[in-house]
Amino acid sequence: MRIVITGGAGFLGQRLAQAILARGQLTDARGAVRAVRELVLLDVVPAAGSADPRVRTLAGDLADPMVAAAAITPDTASVFHLAAVVSGQAEADFALGMRVNLDATRQLLDRCRALPAPPKFVFASSLAVFGGTLPDPVPDDAPLLPQSSYGTQKAIGELLVSDLSRRGAIDGRSLRLPTVTVRPGKPNKAASSFASGIIREPLAGVEAICPVAPTTRMWLQSPQAVIANLIVGHEAPAAALAGRRSVNVPGISVAVGDMVAALRAVAGSAVADRIVWQFDPAVDRIVSTWPAAFAARHGHALGMRADDDFAAIVRAYLAEHAAA
Ligand SMILES: NC(=O)c1ccc[n+]([C@@H]2O[C@H](COP(=O)([O-])OP(=O)(O)OC[C@H]3O[C@@H](n4cnc5c(N)ncnc54)[C@H](O)[C@@H]3O)[C@@H](O)[C@H]2O)c1
Repeated sequence: MRIVITGGAGFLGQRLAQAILARGQLTDARGAVRAVRELVLLDVVPAAGSADPRVRTLAGDLADPMVAAAAITPDTASVFHLAAVVSGQAEADFALGMRVNLDATRQLLDRCRALPAPPKFVFASSLAVFGGTLPDPVPDDAPLLPQSSYGTQKAIGELLVSDLSRRGAIDGRSLRLPTVTVRPGKPNKAASSFASGIIREPLAGVEAICPVAPTTRMWLQSPQAVIANLIVGHEAPAAALAGRRSVNVPGISVAVGDMVAALRAVAGSAVADRIVWQFDPAVDRIVSTWPAAFAARHGHALGMRADDDFAAIVRAYLAEHAAA
């Protein structure tokens, strides 16, 4: 079975690749469980190489039709579409956001549409497709009303995935991921970047700025749980999606002040006191439009899971990065 991960050099792309290789098999669109024969990591920046003979890396801009054509060969059985520019960047640079988050998605879908057998297509969407006044928690059938260019581009991608699935051209599913925390490495241009920074930096002995109020609530998930849920979303048979190709991925709803309290409980006050509260209206304007809690019944019914609580997320990060 040939699988393509776009954004394969990214945070989730790299982790997903490891999880798929370790699992060794996935279920194709016809319901057959097949061994992973080739895993292609496509990214505009070169993905880290792997000693695993099943891995192939492909560097190129997905918005270029030639790149999509090189990646999606006729024997491609599954595509995980993770390539994107993140929320803050898509808001700051509208043209770039449209090019990567929309034009490249369309190129990729067009290429998939031309395959002899419809591939499974997992689209990494986001809770940023929602906005406006919504019930708390947000039900599965809430209307899409994005309040950012990133959310709008993801919402259009979801509609395309849904329509091409209806037409039988792909077997698609759009998974609306919660904010993933704790992300290792450096801050990125996502508006939610602080949700990792306020845990990661203090643990590394560095001050971190928190740009939103302690009462701001967020819908969160650990990287470990998100990767497991991406695979559950891929494995779900089309019949279980019952025409609803977009799924709110389960998460936990946590106030930023409670995130800091959990950090204090797990790592001590000296660590938690490294957080500096410095309100940033630009970040708050985006983050405060995202729903803070979902009744993710569809996702749970498919077998997706949430983390137990935020302290468990901090402990999982520490367990993985203790050496560093
Ligand atoms: N991490 C989160 O909190 C979160 C939350 C909701 C949704 N998502 C979505 O999940 C996906 C993966 O997120 P991530 O955190 O791994 O992001 P990331 O920024 O680490 O990875 C995205 C990758 O896409 C690549 N990319 C950008 N433009 C490209 C292009 N034109 N052609 C090919 N590759 C290109 C980047 O180089 C990068 O490696 C994204 O679609 C993101 O929108 C992430």
